[in-house]
Amino acid sequence: MTASSDVQPSDMRLGVNVDHVATLRQARGTTYPDVAEAARKAIAAGADSITVHLREDRRHIQDSDVETLSAAGEVPVNLEMALTDEMIDIALRTKPRDCCLVPESREELTTEGGLDIVGQRERVREGLDTLYGAGINAALFIDPDIEQIDAAAEAGARCIELHTGAYADASDEGERERELERIQNAAAHAASLHIEVHAGHGLHVDNVGAIAEIGPIVELNIGHALIAQAVFLGIGEAVREMRAAIETARRKLH
Ligand code: PXP
Repeated sequence: MTASSDVQPSDMRLGVNVDHVATLRQARGTTYPDVAEAARKAIAAGADSITVHLREDRRHIQDSDVETLSAAGEVPVNLEMALTDEMIDIALRTKPRDCCLVPESREELTTEGGLDIVGQRERVREGLDTLYGAGINAALFIDPDIEQIDAAAEAGARCIELHTGAYADASDEGERERELERIQNAAAHAASLHIEVHAGHGLHVDNVGAIAEIGPIVELNIGHALIAQAVFLGIGEAVREMRAAIETARRKLH
């Protein structure tokens, strides 16, 4: 029995982002590794949902991945996407359980900042209304910024995902502490507005603990580091290792 199998399920959910399984496949234009198989294995190992980011440039996840995962109905899907008419149409057609609206620019290596809600409240409201109207749990991926959270509340958001990239990339302990405090304050503020709080970006087993200890955060979405670890451990063990790190931190709360 491994230490991780002693871990009890907790009130913090883990979404596993499998984009980089598709990155490996797209690098050679092969049919492997199979994204759907990775998704099933992650869920079997204790992940609560599977995140896929269908980017405008289709650099990793393809439309067919979203369709296959949705049609099979075997795993709860969280579709990350830009707020565009094309993506809203795809969400309405494929009906993922969850959806996370993210900013997107073609040049970026990954999602570099949160969605600006302050500058486009009405457009965000329309997008959310459409998705909620279709029975999809939509979230907004935003920086841990009080102004953005207030704007998200005004746009009718029921759920936000806080961008943890600045915390994960902090170059020294002081900056890391400041970024952690921003996330703690943002999470508490959103919860006080009755908005469900998720978090993600740049998290790995060594930095996830401090985020998992933030009570109002109920879901983490983790991709790159977990898939990288899967190269050495296999995806099931990489998920179990991450869950164990989350549970260890979460237990301190109770
Ligand atoms: N959450 C959102 C909204 C993201 O865009 C990403 C990256 O695609 C993640 C979580 C996962 O980030 P990472 O791959 O760095 O774990």
